Amino acid sequence: MKYISHSADDTEKIAYNFASMLRGGEIINLDGDLGAGKTAFIRGLAKGLGISDIVSSPTFTIVNEYRKGNIPLFHFDVYRIGSSEEMYDIGWDDYISQGAVVAVEWSVNISDIFNGDEIKVMITKDLTKSEEYREITIEGAV
Ligand SMILES: Nc1ncnc2c1ncn2[C@@H]1O[C@H](COP(=O)(O)OP(=O)(O)OP(=O)(O)O)[C@@H](O)[C@H]1O
Ligand SMILES: [Mg+2]
Repeated sequence: MKYISHSADDTEKIAYNFASMLRGGEIINLDGDLGAGKTAFIRGLAKGLGISDIVSSPTFTIVNEYRKGNIPLFHFDVYRIGSSEEMYDIGWDDYISQGAVVAVEWSVNISDIFNGDEIKVMITKDLTKSEEYREITIEGAV
């Protein structure tokens, strides 16, 4: 599916609606330019999962855990990760076996740990259209 977003709010709403299709156990890979709106998308996703905490990218850690929603959400940002090995060191296998929604920003950095069953969210800017224009493509959906 392809969506057009004209603002950060739009992106959140698209993600909010998308969240209603999730049952837990999904891995959602988010890729796209710096500042494309990956974190904004996960913010909407979290709301849609009934999570009321403020969602921001994990900065000092690789993962933020939100366990108070209808379905738990693990938000990874692997922008600064050195290698996929680090993912296993922090317990990746454990994270993906808990029935949570697992969202991974910059999944391209650790592409070798995925098996192809993931949902892929790609967000691209088009500055020729407007500062806030984004195309959001969701593939491999539930
Ligand atoms: N249509 C849009 N969708 C999402 N964000 C938008 C949009 N238009 C403008 N923005 C702005 O772009 C920025 C997106 O930031 P966000 O942190 O979500 O991006 P990101 O892809 O997670 O970046 P990073 O690669 O640094 O993790 C915000 O400042 C937001 O207000
Ligand atoms: Mg981000």
